[in-house]
Amino acid sequence: MRIATVVAVALVQAVAHAPLVDAADVVPKRVPLVVPAPQTMPDGPLGDAVRQGLSIINATKAALPENVGNGLACASCHLNGGTVAYAAPLVGVWGVYPEYFARSGRVEGFADRVNDCFRRSMNGRPIDVDGAPMRALMAYVAWLSTGVPVGASVEGRGFRAMSAPARAPDAGRGATLYEQRCASCHGVDGGGSPLASGGYAIPPLWGPQSFNDGAGMSHAATAAAFIQAKMPLGRGGSLSDQDAWDIAALVTGAPRPAFAGKAGDYRAGGRPASPR
Ligand code: HEC
Ligand code: HEC
Repeated sequence: MRIATVVAVALVQAVAHAPLVDAADVVPKRVPLVVPAPQTMPDGPLGDAVRQGLSIINATKAALPENVGNGLACASCHLNGGTVAYAAPLVGVWGVYPEYFARSGRVEGFADRVNDCFRRSMNGRPIDVDGAPMRALMAYVAWLSTGVPVGASVEGRGFRAMSAPARAPDAGRGATLYEQRCASCHGVDGGGSPLASGGYAIPPLWGPQSFNDGAGMSHAATAAAFIQAKMPLGRGGSLSDQDAWDIAALVTGAPRPAFAGKAGDYRAGGRPASPR
């Protein structure tokens, strides 16, 4: 036998005899959400890419005007640069893909999910999966995920799980609450607070400049979970679940852009339960 063959056979035997450990036993399913300190951003070209990724998250339209079709930025929902629990944090997301996604009924990679949000949440066009902006978003999210084991999710990934509302959501009651708790920032017409220089100081909740009806936020359960946990901004947790369901009924029932591919969503099942 040649040396290489001997080595190869020895390796196969070593692997065959190594104790087999179920991945479920070694990878924790949930780990605490820890945001890396800014000074841990790498230097040099990789650090430049991380910073470019962060600026795409915060000022999406300025960075990618061709791909954004509304007045939102990624950080309108992925709060504080994607670092906030229960506001779909991007911390740890690097190591969870590929992952099965019920909406598309297929296994998706990180870039697929980014482009889902460009098409739906941003009512825009996907970015080139092989271009510098996608690489920058990857660099940023990989850095944000420092220390999170591959396959683990952080506590607060996605949104809160809402239990079914005690009463059927009431958009009329939601409108009264909206006037009291939301309109000062998001406008009586839901149109947000536009800046004279273009763009928005506060993003629109409905109308032509908001997310389209294929976006995750257009599901009442997701909107209610986000609103209850995070809104009014700075006063998260102050609304009851029922208040949040009622306001979500108003917001998700209001007019917004249509998403052409919506009919194909959840073909394989798994659609989020609608309240009642
Ligand atoms: C003090 C101002 C303020 C108030 C009051 C407020 N929001 Fe917001 N809201 C914001 C800002 C600012 C953002 C974007 C996050 C960011 O840029 O950090 C946001 C984002 C959102 C988003 C996601 C982005 C979008 O445009 O769809 C939703 C949904 C939302 N708010 C709903 C509400 C609801 C419902 C209320 C009332 C219960 C409310 N907000 C009250 C300031 C406010
Ligand atoms: C209107 C709110 C909103 C905006 C704006 C938005 N997203 Fe999202 N994003 C969501 C929601 C909701 C989800 C959860 C999946 C779903 O239901 O679509 C999500 C999920 C994601 C995920 C997967 C997170 C995970 O836990 O696996 C990534 C990555 C992502 N978004 C990136 C982006 C990027 C990049 C942008 C800007 C180009 C963006 N999103 C803009 C609402 C938004």
